[in-house]
Amino acid sequence: MDLYLRQARASAAERRAVDAVLGPPESGWDGGRRRVEKDGRAAHGGHAARSRRHLLLPALHAAQGRVGWISEGALNYICQRLTVPPAEAYGVASFYGLFSLRRRAPNVVHVCDDVVCRVRGGLALCDEMAKALGPAGSKGKRGATWLRSPCLGLCEQAPAALVIKAGPSPVERAIGAADSAGLLDALEAEPARPPAPRLPQFGEAGLRLLRRIGHLDPSSLDDYRAKGGYAALRRALELGPEGVVREVIDSKLMGRGGAAFPTGRKWDAVAKAPARPHYLVCNADESEPGTFKDRVLMEEDPFALLEAMTIAGFATGCETGYLYVRGEYPLAAERLAHAITTARVRGLLGDDVMDHGFRFEVELRRGAGAYICGEETALFNSIEGYRGEPRNKPPFPVASGLFSKPTLINNVETLVNVLDVVLESGPGFAKLGTEGSTGTKLFCVSGHVAQPGLYEVPFGTTLEALLHGAGGVPGGRRLKAVLLGGAAGSFVTPEELPVPLTFESTRAIGASLGSGVVVALDDSVDLLDLALRIAAFFRDESCGQCVPCRVGTVRQEEALLRIARKRTLGTTHDEAALLREIGQVMRDASICGLGQTAASAIESAVTKLGLLDGGRP
Ligand SMILES: Cc1cc2nc3c(=O)[nH]c(=O)nc-3n(C[C@H](O)[C@H](O)[C@H](O)COP(=O)(O)O)c2cc1C
Ligand code: SF4
Ligand code: FES
Repeated sequence: MDLYLRQARASAAERRAVDAVLGPPESGWDGGRRRVEKDGRAAHGGHAARSRRHLLLPALHAAQGRVGWISEGALNYICQRLTVPPAEAYGVASFYGLFSLRRRAPNVVHVCDDVVCRVRGGLALCDEMAKALGPAGSKGKRGATWLRSPCLGLCEQAPAALVIKAGPSPVERAIGAADSAGLLDALEAEPARPPAPRLPQFGEAGLRLLRRIGHLDPSSLDDYRAKGGYAALRRALELGPEGVVREVIDSKLMGRGGAAFPTGRKWDAVAKAPARPHYLVCNADESEPGTFKDRVLMEEDPFALLEAMTIAGFATGCETGYLYVRGEYPLAAERLAHAITTARVRGLLGDDVMDHGFRFEVELRRGAGAYICGEETALFNSIEGYRGEPRNKPPFPVASGLFSKPTLINNVETLVNVLDVVLESGPGFAKLGTEGSTGTKLFCVSGHVAQPGLYEVPFGTTLEALLHGAGGVPGGRRLKAVLLGGAAGSFVTPEELPVPLTFESTRAIGASLGSGVVVALDDSVDLLDLALRIAAFFRDESCGQCVPCRVGTVRQEEALLRIARKRTLGTTHDEAALLREIGQVMRDASICGLGQTAASAIESAVTKLGLLDGGRP
């Protein structure tokens, strides 16, 4: 590499941090000391060096984790090590919300001000942090700064924060029920590990995906096995790859990541794809505001996900599975890393899984704060070391996905369901739920309910029953609306509560289950403020690649701001018509689901809840 960012050099500490991920440099050509006798006059590396580009994101994490930001010197060094042009590496680093390319304090508190936290004390917490540390993003007192953050996936414990302290051993802690005193303490001392949250349904009969949670030591493979773990993989090995795919098809299991695609069809297509190798990707990016289900599964039952991934790899002919966990989930990443190492040592991953002669490995990758990286093709780009921009489809991932090879991508909850599919048989699994929505579903219940938390119910349970099970609206207040499916979902009214929670019934009322978000909102809520937050979320998170979404999300927010400030262009009616038109264009012409759904919650608030008439139906 001979292109540098103003000749800046990495510090010794930054080099060490990057080398810890990439290994030491082998020659002067990839950032090491130049030794004439070894390096000679010819460049070495070429294709081999470029093929390591998928290590760009881990290397950027290492540099940021060491000093709290990515300096020009560190970026230069990473570019040399991986033979990536600096402009491209800069484009990648600047794509992610958790990275900073400007010097900043080594300790940062990210305070969530997204939909749930802002109705549960998050805004007051932001005010307190501003008093203690100065304005958000300012240089900061006490060697620390704070930033406002989109949903941190800890909504059941709102208000939520994430403390990140850079150093030789970086510390990251997600903190629920956060207050300013606790956050300032966490900056001074080693933040305590939060106690495992207790499931509201703990001990209830009939739990399936959640049955082990709270009863299991998540760090112990023996405990997992004692509670039935790895029986499904053993059964899968008996069934053989085709037999497993058959059961998954028969189970009618639909994807739980939001798009509700039949899982068996994907598995079948990847298993039969002629090109090799095949890849498996587990989508654990979980960034939809209001969603925290995958976090609970990964933190509390990590071996279950590994076992399910191994079955998926076996059935579809993948030797490598990538597990992409959102950057804001440090505990999940830590527990999964431990589980991967343990499973490898015990012969449950590696060259000869369970002495059955099949090879399967899992690579853990961490996102760095980008909602769009949950979109499957954006996620592939992110793993490959490119900006997380969605690709045009077709080709679909089953034909050309990660590294342009046939790829099976599934959500965490989808994969964990496969354990029961294999153990009970596909038709056995399909007995639960409804014809079009089989099995159980995890719902992330938060906002104004007495007992927020993760709930598991069979498909077909009504929204009313789910909210009742969560204790209903506390404080004698009236339910104003429920945000169903997250920011990409829509608001439903109290009159719609009898809707059965299935893919088909929610579709029939113009809503969607999405990733299982249920945010209850009482009559104290300022709907316009929530709509503005949702609009700001999509404006921030749009990758900017296609015009309808890049411009539409900005125009949508501007129109809402004019309405909020009572400075409309023409009448409110004119602004409503403009919002409708913007929504239509985004839906029809955006490349991916982000743009296609960026107007849906706002439109539902306008049409169903009278948003523009003062928020009253
Ligand atoms: C903007 C956007 C964000 C998404 N985020 C996630 C996510 O965080 N987790 C997830 O599993 N799927 C997410 N998806 C859906 C994925 O593209 C994909 O459909 C899913 O991972 C497939 O897995 P499944 O079939 O098991 O649901 C997202 C889609 C879009 C358009
Ligand atoms: S719709 Fe939005 S997020 Fe999706 S590709 Fe276009 S600009 Fe990017
Ligand atoms: S953690 Fe704040 S909205 Fe989810």
